[in-house]
Amino acid sequence: MSADPIRTVAVLGAGIMGHGIAQVTVMSGYTVHLYDIKQAYLDRGINAMDESLGRLLAKGKISNDQYLQIKSDLLKPFLNLEAAVQGADLVIEAIPEVMELKRNMFTEVDNICPPHTILATNTSTIRPSQIATATQRPDRFLGMHYFTPVVFMPLIEIIRADQTSEETMGIALDFALKTERVPLRIEKDTPGFIANRVLQFPKSVLLGCILDQDIVKPEALDDQWRTLTGSALGPFEIMDFAGLDTYINASNYLSRELHPDYTPCRVIQEKVNAGQLGRKSGRGIYDYSDGKPKIGLSETETAITAHDVMAVMINEATKIIEEGLCTAEDVDKTAIYGMRDKEGPMTYAKRLKPAELAQRLDELADMCDKEIFRPTEYIRMGAYL
Ligand SMILES: NC(=O)c1ccc[n+]([C@@H]2O[C@H](COP(=O)([O-])OP(=O)(O)OC[C@H]3O[C@@H](n4cnc5c(N)ncnc54)[C@H](O)[C@@H]3O)[C@@H](O)[C@H]2O)c1
Repeated sequence: MSADPIRTVAVLGAGIMGHGIAQVTVMSGYTVHLYDIKQAYLDRGINAMDESLGRLLAKGKISNDQYLQIKSDLLKPFLNLEAAVQGADLVIEAIPEVMELKRNMFTEVDNICPPHTILATNTSTIRPSQIATATQRPDRFLGMHYFTPVVFMPLIEIIRADQTSEETMGIALDFALKTERVPLRIEKDTPGFIANRVLQFPKSVLLGCILDQDIVKPEALDDQWRTLTGSALGPFEIMDFAGLDTYINASNYLSRELHPDYTPCRVIQEKVNAGQLGRKSGRGIYDYSDGKPKIGLSETETAITAHDVMAVMINEATKIIEEGLCTAEDVDKTAIYGMRDKEGPMTYAKRLKPAELAQRLDELADMCDKEIFRPTEYIRMGAYL
């Protein structure tokens, strides 16, 4: 068996995702070069990682030797891009979800890195093929989509771009396993791949409609969702955790690539304009000024329920299953390993009658004025059962 072709990994961006990716990578014994554009951003990422490693050490999940090796040897911060990537075998990019920013970054990285280096983007929505063309090595370019918080969510979508070679896919899959992740191989890149396309995008359209029309208090829906799925966080909390700016960037991209119904909702656009980006800025849908969100449960009977959130996910899943992009089992795997839900939407769907599900989706489409919620033929025919 040949030696591991990956020894040093450069992670670009030390934000929510970058510092998490860096952490799980150093914890598996790889050397990590963590790069960001300002010392303050680098410090913030390293401090967050320190806190997490400290908690894992206290719980005995990592040894003292491992902790010391990570701190003194394996993790290296960089403000200079050339120094960060020139010795890397794998570069994982986690900078903001803006196509031109990512393309420019990869053109630069491609010019610096040796020919063998594999380049991966952690984009959550953009098709990796649209970024790969900014480099001279599209065969060594792919998507590696991690989930937040990375330390607790083991899923990585390993996404083949138009020209990704089989060797590159194989190295990335192997690296995912060596870093104790659960890889899901995706052979065709469509916006949002499987997890976000099904579990996030339609849900965010529904949440946007709830906010704009003030249909349900976020805390009520979050509470219902936690009870229904066993998730630690409700959908509005997840939105805050992931960053409302990320939601806006993703929605703008999806409204162009998938359907105009994905156009960002008014309330969140106003929050982002006011600098309220979610948990990372102290305020978003909820207020985090005391560290924890101030969530007070107000209503139990709501016009849109957690079940409806599940219904729009199931509907979207049937679109990509019909297109042959994935199976129902793949969809459920993303919910279980990417969100830590107790079951996936396609297992949940097995308990629903097609006519009732289709009728509720039609009602949601009318209530929110969103055609993407109309039930598919797959649902009307009960093909998911
Ligand atoms: N937040 C999530 O839940 C989540 C999940 C999966 C994937 N993603 C994707 O990961 C990427 C990063 O998202 P995030 O939530 O970590 O964002 P973030 O805003 O928390 O972090 C981005 C980091 O990139 C840095 N940065 C900005 N411009 C840069 C540049 N030119 N070069 C290097 N660093 C630069 C910023 O200083 C910041 O520290 C995005 O593509 C996002 O879609 C996010």
